[in-house]
Amino acid sequence: MIGRLNHVAIAVPDLDAAVGQYRDMLGGTVSAPQAQPAHGVTVVFVELPNTKIELLHPLGENSPIAAFLERSPSGGIHHLCYEVDDIYAARDKLKAEGARVLGDGEPKIGAHDKPVLFLHPKDFCGALIELEQA
Ligand code: CO
Repeated sequence: MIGRLNHVAIAVPDLDAAVGQYRDMLGGTVSAPQAQPAHGVTVVFVELPNTKIELLHPLGENSPIAAFLERSPSGGIHHLCYEVDDIYAARDKLKAEGARVLGDGEPKIGAHDKPVLFLHPKDFCGALIELEQA
């Protein structure tokens, strides 16, 4: 069911510093910051030949990554995103097998304008998983 690794997301406390690291130290191709108020984050993408890194920084009062950064003040890997062909079919199969889908269970439009869902990390080896319909 799961396909390509679409991205690895890293929550960062200082977006400019993280961009500088990825662009200047690591020589990566880095996008401009994109504010995503609906998701409570500002996102920068680092394009790699085989996947992307998504640098996430809190935006607004109720950012879903604020608590993560309180627990991990220097930042950390926040989630992995796997591509699926059909997000509803993937959701229904996973729910039937007992996995928990976060939120109301309905796909939301994610950072790449594609439908996404998140799966409970306790059901997947401690890793928060995002599914994106590719
Ligand atoms: Co993501």
